[in-house]
Amino acid sequence: MDAIIVLDFGGQTAQLIGRRIRELGVYSEILPGTTPAALLAGLPGLTVRGIVLSGSPASVHDADAPVPDPALFELPTPILGICYGLQQMVSQRGGEIARSTSREYGRSKLRYSSEHPLFAEVPEGFTSWMSHGDHVVAVPEGVRVVAESEHGIPAAIEFSRTQIGIQFHPEVTHCEHGNRILENFVVGMAGCATDWSLEEYADEAAEEIRTTVGPSPVLLLISGGVDSTVVAAILLRALDPAQVYLMYVNTGLMRKDESEEVGASLERLGARHLDLIDAEAEFLAALDGVDDPEKKREIIGDLFIRVQSREIAERIPGDYFLAQGTIYPDIIESGGGVGKYAHVIKSHHNVRSPLVAAKREQGKLIEPLSRLYKDEVRRLGIILGVSRDVIARHPFPGPGLAVRILGAVTPEKCRILREADALYIAELRDRGLYDRIWQAFCVLLPLRSVGVTGDTRHYGYVLALRAVNSTDAMTADVFPFAPDDLLAISARITNRIPEIGRVVYDVSSKPPATIEWE
Ligand code: XMP
Repeated sequence: MDAIIVLDFGGQTAQLIGRRIRELGVYSEILPGTTPAALLAGLPGLTVRGIVLSGSPASVHDADAPVPDPALFELPTPILGICYGLQQMVSQRGGEIARSTSREYGRSKLRYSSEHPLFAEVPEGFTSWMSHGDHVVAVPEGVRVVAESEHGIPAAIEFSRTQIGIQFHPEVTHCEHGNRILENFVVGMAGCATDWSLEEYADEAAEEIRTTVGPSPVLLLISGGVDSTVVAAILLRALDPAQVYLMYVNTGLMRKDESEEVGASLERLGARHLDLIDAEAEFLAALDGVDDPEKKREIIGDLFIRVQSREIAERIPGDYFLAQGTIYPDIIESGGGVGKYAHVIKSHHNVRSPLVAAKREQGKLIEPLSRLYKDEVRRLGIILGVSRDVIARHPFPGPGLAVRILGAVTPEKCRILREADALYIAELRDRGLYDRIWQAFCVLLPLRSVGVTGDTRHYGYVLALRAVNSTDAMTADVFPFAPDDLLAISARITNRIPEIGRVVYDVSSKPPATIEWE
């Protein structure tokens, strides 16, 4: 498969470069900026046709600046340096980079000094997007300046027939003709075929699974979220469904009707071995009287692992492969050298699971989504027949309602929160708001406040509503409800759930708050 490798020097837009290239129909992968050139030739299943060097918050003058392997520039593979990438190319060739007195930031019209295929069909004077503190002051000998910025700074430099660097960022939407410039590199200079698609990915992933697994059983632990459901769909398509063991632990901390819906969606996908394990009593007993948030998480994580191992031993015959819904953004390349390509998994259960560690060690872990972004996983799910309801479902934390019941968890509080949350979500759906919000949920506070119904005063729970928009959960904005929507949601909840006396809306963004309350 043709691929473009993006070498990531820590720039904010490295992921975006990768995305844009995939949108052109070419597979791209992001590797640490310092990846040795020799490694690029041996990437399994990939023919590297081009290399992009990303931007960076570093300066080439920093003592610990990440440096691309000089052997890259000996390869016949076409290279495009962007911003810091360009500056590294200049400095490695003996040119000079200086700190700018003022940062060049924002739009800048480019003037061409000579022609270059990178700018084919891009008109002179187009508006590029700059964001840099350093710039090129002396170009190396024997290179050609192709374009300059409004301020007379070299904006594109050709180092050889196959190597070019640019000071601006074609990957950001503010850059005019940015996609055309990337396409000129990816297709025009690197010669990639633009036939990469999720259908092709699904076929290749299925083939890879069949070859790896053979006739062995495969176990997948289902969380009910999008990722594990899409992995189930791939496994059931790639293998004999009799080989595929799906296991779902109901901790009692799930949303209303969630366990039943998960079961139904997997049956629709053709699951044959589907175990829905009811461990509610065990989880609630373990959490009894515990009010420290970290302790709650720890108890849930540990019990999860104990329940899983016990149930697996009872249900799966002999040796087996473990499948996991790790996706591309979960995999953080730690950078530095070949020995440091360890995958670091963010999700809590995964990090601590000894089962995952053991299976990885034995080469019996399969992660068919590990090259996909979240929206690609969703699109793949649709292709594989996963229902739109599952695909569009908001994220839900592993420890479930336990981190949304502040303080000690009781069966009664679980019941109240589940009902309130279901009403909130139903109201969002009725009002056409659910799909406009990234994550919405209720939090039950460990407080009671006074209220009146008829002539009687009573103390009811305080319920907080949360609704945020985000792209990657690292930052989040408060969803700006219209006042009428909030009033209607509040009324629906307090009318239907007598134990809740008061509803408040959380108007904190992340940072400084987090999305969850515990
Ligand atoms: P925070 O609260 O850290 O949440 O802003 C960011 C996103 O992660 C989810 N979340 C979790 N997911 N296990 C998970 O699988 C957890 O322990 C956990 N804690 C938070 C949260 O719902 C939000 O989408």
